[in-house]
Amino acid sequence: MTFAHAHLLGIEPLAPGDITAILDLAEDYVTLNRSAVKHGDALKGLTQINMFFEASTRTQASFELAGKRLGADVMNMAMQASSLKKGETLIDTALTLNAMHPDLLVVRHPQSGAVDLLAQKVRCAVLNAGDGRHEHPTQALLDALTIRRAKGRLHRLSIAICGDIAHSRVARSNILLLGKMENRVRLIGPPTLMPAGIAEFGVEVFDDMRAGLEGVDVVMMLRLQKERMDGGFIPSEREYYHRYGLDAEKLAIAKPDAIVMHPGPMNRGVEIDGEIADDINRSVIQDQVEMGVAVRMAAMDLLARNLRARRAA
Ligand code: NCD
Repeated sequence: MTFAHAHLLGIEPLAPGDITAILDLAEDYVTLNRSAVKHGDALKGLTQINMFFEASTRTQASFELAGKRLGADVMNMAMQASSLKKGETLIDTALTLNAMHPDLLVVRHPQSGAVDLLAQKVRCAVLNAGDGRHEHPTQALLDALTIRRAKGRLHRLSIAICGDIAHSRVARSNILLLGKMENRVRLIGPPTLMPAGIAEFGVEVFDDMRAGLEGVDVVMMLRLQKERMDGGFIPSEREYYHRYGLDAEKLAIAKPDAIVMHPGPMNRGVEIDGEIADDINRSVIQDQVEMGVAVRMAAMDLLARNLRARRAA
């Protein structure tokens, strides 16, 4: 197994072999997480600090559980309430952190690139838990593991990513990962929610959901990121649901065994019909949550091995 990275900042710098290494190790952690005693010792003695400068429930809980199951001392810093409000720069935050000697730093930040900047200033392994519209690598990895388990492979699949692509770091990381693993990616959404220059990513773009869903293996829905919109992107939520919301009729256009995914949190009745989201024969949304813990355990385990090797050298 080879994974030679010091940080997990995005999917962009990863090779297909790195992705496979994380997913293969995560399979072991799926088994551990399903057993009665869920303890490993890969992070024993290490300190993990979670710094979320943006609200999060599942991602933060998932990283916290992942660290605790592997024996790390985990601390959550409530960043909204702390120094950022007082105008402390990211660099000052980094210096403060260095003085506390963390080993793993999990960071979510509203600005694209902020996590990379922090990684340059701290002496520990940094994991990006979502930076602005840029990347959310562990989300793409957990999506990949979910797809691989449901479909038996992670190549030559036809995958539709639907909705608010422009504001989505989940979409960006998934486009990169699925492309590297040689899948066909289709993006479906209104032109106002497609990022400029998207054609360079080697994807097919559709503004008609029915045309885009034709024959796909995977339907990945995205949340309308209203907090990143300053008005005018969609006519109304009702109209949006009519054209781009996933309901039974639109899902019938995909392959009969197509799976439905959503990173959460969901806006039921806006981008997805609640019944489809809850349909255990089609929806793998709960599997995504389960795979999230395992993938984060695997990513932190691999980074900790490299950190120990670097410090020993
Ligand atoms: C995503 C995020 O924060 O980027 N959620 C998540 O990590 N579970 C997607 C979203 O907020 O819509």
